[in-house]
Amino acid sequence: MNIGVVGHVDHGKTTLVNALTGTWTDRHSEEVRRGISIRLGYADATFYKCDHCEGTEAYSTKPVCPACGSEGKPFRSISFVDAPGHETLMATMLSGSALMDGAMLVISTTEKCPQPQTKEHLMALGLVGIKKIVIVQNKIDVVSQKEAIENYQQIKDFVKGTVAENAPIIPVSAQKGINIGALVQALDQTIPEPVRDPDAEPVMLVARSFDINKPGCNWKEVKGGVVGGSLIRGILHDGDPIEIRPGRQTQVENRIKWIPIITEITSINAGTKTVEEATPGGLLGIGTKLDPALTKSDALAGQVVGHVGKLPPVWDKIRCQVTLMERVVGATSELVIEPLKFNEPLMLSVGTAVTVGVVTSTKKEAVEVQLKRPVCAEPGARIAISRQVGARWRLIGMGVLSE
Ligand code: GTP
Repeated sequence: MNIGVVGHVDHGKTTLVNALTGTWTDRHSEEVRRGISIRLGYADATFYKCDHCEGTEAYSTKPVCPACGSEGKPFRSISFVDAPGHETLMATMLSGSALMDGAMLVISTTEKCPQPQTKEHLMALGLVGIKKIVIVQNKIDVVSQKEAIENYQQIKDFVKGTVAENAPIIPVSAQKGINIGALVQALDQTIPEPVRDPDAEPVMLVARSFDINKPGCNWKEVKGGVVGGSLIRGILHDGDPIEIRPGRQTQVENRIKWIPIITEITSINAGTKTVEEATPGGLLGIGTKLDPALTKSDALAGQVVGHVGKLPPVWDKIRCQVTLMERVVGATSELVIEPLKFNEPLMLSVGTAVTVGVVTSTKKEAVEVQLKRPVCAEPGARIAISRQVGARWRLIGMGVLSE
């Protein structure tokens, strides 16, 4: 199962993932230099319960119980998807939300609640249909009890009337590892294992793609391109022939065409383990026979992997039923959202794909958009819609893909 980690910049998402998994997900040099997450981070944890302890103390992510030192029993495996909180990286957060079965909304006690991306991320969760939410009130180590309670009240007022209205609010210090047991218990109780259909045709949403070869390595050791993401249904096996849609862009007689990529799975990594078959839930790295130039630097992010000829259709023009929000959130001034206009550019997030398009027709809620980059999606898929407000794309509503 995948749990998303969302919230305003610097509220402690990456630190919290580190407290839960022991993994620091900001690895990219620019992330380290700027001190913010830029790409989606992944890290796995196992939840343990200790038979000798009671209440929240019995829960941890460590095989040895931190409270009494006896051996804990593993009972669930979780993959965390760490989304960036910076306002310019909303598209990355949205593409990550396609992989989330539930989410933790991280809110720092050191700032007034809500901050712009606290609002925008919660709205995004609502739009893409993520209802299982745990709120993490972080950084309690640097405020007084009175301030923490005031902040708790602000959070309660903010979530009223939203999908997180009844979400548990767990006070923690990610940095000092305080109350992590209570958080594990709340995640376990609030976000149940989703029901999956393993017999369905496999559909894997690609969130990242990599060239895993070191510069200057011997050509005989070059490994094929790797795609990373999550299977939302079905099973993939090592050795399976696969198709990746929309695929790669080519030019045929002055026209741009997208050609599906056909290849073969050469290895499957689930977390840190190499496995023979991949099942839904959790994050996967799939080794392929592709030229790594095709997969380098997230080039295939947003694409869909499945068995050859069995994937959903590819659309370069979409029709969708749109519901717009009343106001733009995420910016300091909250403007009223006007109806969509003919010829207006929009940013659309469909699954893990983020694409830009132009409105070619609007008839009440039915809107047609010509896409710059096609997407592979099933009719009925939810689409998060952003509009350019000032210099930024701002989330303004959602659409449902029509046939
Ligand atoms: P982005 O991914 O860039 O949005 O940031 P983030 O939400 O992942 O925040 P990050 O984990 O990078 O933490 C931001 C800063 O807050 C760092 O300097 C952390 O050390 C600090 N921090 C995180 N959690 C805590 C906490 O529980 N207590 C205190 N005192 N500081 C914390």
